[in-house]
Order: sequence, then C-alpha cells, then structure tokens
Amino acid sequence: MIDRPLTLPSGARLNNRIVKSAMSEALADARNDPTEGMIALYRRWGQSGAALLITGNTPVERNHLEHAANVVLDERSNLEKTRRLAVAAKSGGALALVQIAHSGRQTPAAINARPLSISDRALDLPGYGTPKIASEDALQAIIARFAATARLAREAGFDGVEVHGAHGYLLSSALSPRINTRKDRWGGSLVNRSRLLREVIRAVRAAGGADFVVAAKLNSSDFQKGGFTHEESIETARMLEREGVDLLEISGGTFETPVAYQHATQKQSTAAREAYFLDYARDIKRALGIPVMVTGGFRSAAVMRQALAEDATDLIGMGRPFILDPAFPRKLLAGDIAVTPAPERDFPPAEALPRGAVLNWFCHQLALQGTRGKADPDLPVIEGHDRYLDRIASSTAGLLAARAAAPC
Ligand SMILES: Cc1cc2nc3c(=O)[nH]c(=O)nc-3n(C[C@H](O)[C@H](O)[C@H](O)COP(=O)(O)O)c2cc1C
Repeated sequence: MIDRPLTLPSGARLNNRIVKSAMSEALADARNDPTEGMIALYRRWGQSGAALLITGNTPVERNHLEHAANVVLDERSNLEKTRRLAVAAKSGGALALVQIAHSGRQTPAAINARPLSISDRALDLPGYGTPKIASEDALQAIIARFAATARLAREAGFDGVEVHGAHGYLLSSALSPRINTRKDRWGGSLVNRSRLLREVIRAVRAAGGADFVVAAKLNSSDFQKGGFTHEESIETARMLEREGVDLLEISGGTFETPVAYQHATQKQSTAAREAYFLDYARDIKRALGIPVMVTGGFRSAAVMRQALAEDATDLIGMGRPFILDPAFPRKLLAGDIAVTPAPERDFPPAEALPRGAVLNWFCHQLALQGTRGKADPDLPVIEGHDRYLDRIASSTAGLLAARAAAPC
C-alpha cells in the first residue's frame, strides 16, 4: 500500500505515500536565502524516493522568524536560489511544497522583542518577548504576506505550499481560546478563532490558482489546558476542507507543550511509541473527504501499512528518519529495510535531559547533513544539543549584524 500513488484534489499526483514533513533546516545565509548545502540536501531528499517534500518553516515576514537561520520567501529573497532549491527538491520526481508560517509570539526576543500576536499573552518560556496585539490592519497585512509568499513559491517552481497552522505559531495560537482572548471578529467562537487561518488559506488559494497544492498543518489538539481541543480540530478541519485545502497534515502541541517530537526508550512498547497522533488523525479523516497525512513517530513499514490499510491516514509523514538517512524511502519501498533509522529510541527519557535536547540534537544533525553531507549519529545527545545552541547563537549574531548594516 505504501507504494500506491495518490492524486490530490488540485490534480497533483504523488508517486507513493511517503512524505518528508517540514523540518526547519537552519541552513539559510545571513540574508535568509538558501545556502548551497541546503540545495544539495534537497537534491538528495529529492532523489530519496519520497513522493512529496515539504520544506522547513519559511516565515512570510522577516520580523517574525522562528530562528535566525530560517529561509524567508519575500520580495527581497534571491529568487534564483529559491528556484534552484525547487529544482533540486523535484529532481527525482517528488512534488515539493514550501511550508509558510508566521511565528507570532514564538518569535525569539533576540530577533523581535515585541512580536505581533493574536493577543498580548506572552509565551511561558524564557527567550521570548512581550507580544503586541495585531490590529485589524496588521492581520490583513499578514494575510497578504502569506499570499505574496505563496505567489513567489509558485514563481520559483514549487508545486504548492503548506500553511503552518500547528505548533503554536501565529495561526495556531489564534485557534486557541487560551491564547486568543480577543473580543472582536477574530476571537471568541471557533468560527472567529479560525478566521485568520481560513482567510490565509483563501488568500493563498487565490494567489496560487486552482492547480496549486494548498496543504495545511493542523494540531490534533494543543494538549494544553484551555487550549485548542480535538473536537475543535475536527470542526476546523471541516472548515478548511470547504476553503479548498488539498491535504491536511495532523500534528499536535506547541512550544510550551512540545509533543510533536516524542521519543521513547526501548522499554516502551512499539505500538505505543509509533504514530502517536494516529488515533486523532483517524477521527479527523472520518470527518473529511480530502486526503489526510499524519506525522509523528512512524518508523516501521508494518505500522505504516496497517495505518493505510485501516484508512486512518492517506499519507505517512516522517521527519527525523530523513535526517539520519536521506535515502531511506527507496530502501523501505523496495523492502530492503523494514524499519527506518530511529536513534531517538536509544536516548534517555526526556525528563533526564535538558528541555529541547533531543530536538536540538536532530537540528544539529540536519545542519550537518547540509554542511558536511552526512550526519554524526554517534554524537552524544547533550553535545548535539550544545552545538545546535551555538549554531543558532552565531546565526543570530550574523543576522543582527547584517540587519544593522542594511535594515529590513
Ligand atoms: C529538526 C526538526 C525540525 C522541525 N521543524 C519543523 C518545522 O519547521 N515545521 C513543522 O511543521 N514541523 C517541524 N518539525 C516537526 C516534524 O515535521 C514532525 O512533525 C516531527 O518531527 C514528528 O515526526 P517524526 O517522528 O517522523 O520525526 C521538526 C522536527 C524536527 C526533528
């Protein structure tokens, strides 16, 4: 079943069911354009056998980055480099989408100490600033920025975009009654809280055209008291389908509740640790006619096959296995391997590590793939964590220096 093709409502055809989910690469230069190493990595992923590649978080606006080394796609971007990125990603027959996002209150304070957000509710984590409430005009400008980035993605040769409506960034925070405390037409009822995401989708669809792939990534739940719930997620998914979304990717959590990247030790059972959002996705898929993709924890071909056979998902999204072995899908499709790389299974439990250590280890490995052409799986988790923090500190210093020289 994994090798069966799938046609999206807009007409784009995926050669099989394996998708590389978005992973923030931290491989942009100080002008937030793709580096040669990033282009080379996308060429390898493009030839991996995966049917669809989704780029990492690509902010639509330079003052609301997720971190300093994000690629940004706007009128100041080097479109030639972005074109080369699209060509590389598509070099083996995969489709390629740009994941477009606005970081909102999850923008690091070093980049913007007063980021725009849906409310003034600050992130409950160190390193983030005091949000400013986005006015009606500011929200309209943000919607227009998403549309402009989608247009540029199309111009650069990408097949479409994935609107990042998950993980606590601006569009996801607007969905949460815990964060979105507005009393105007952007807050209150679910119809109001989902307005920003829906209007972004509508504007992106209009900008890209009927044959442009418009995907959306949505939390199955924020897993946070008073946050966006599973029932609301199902209802929102229905609304997104009506807006012409081609493909809905299911994930979960926010920076404050980082459940998207779970890892488990050998002690836990395989069934429990694989595909941890599958039951949520199954409910959402039942409510929809469009294809659904679930991402998070898939590692063995047997579990992937079962999820497809049970019609719990249409596509298998994977992230971390692509970092360790950018060629694994071909091996899996050919039956040469039954399980993807899964180094996280050998890591100590999250409680025994500094916050974010496992994610940062993977971020460092991803950066190594882009700078040296190979990962270093034997690197201890703490060392990978520290090296990634150093990398981001140095990218931030480079970005701030470039901006001081030429303000954006
Ligand atoms: C290094 C790294 C960077 C990530 N960056 C993003 C991102 O930019 N956008 C996003 O939606 N998810 C991001 N994710 C989450 C992945 O898309 C995926 O949901 C998560 O890793 C779980 O899937 P997996 O178990 O197959 O890795 C990232 C994950 C990792 C490991």
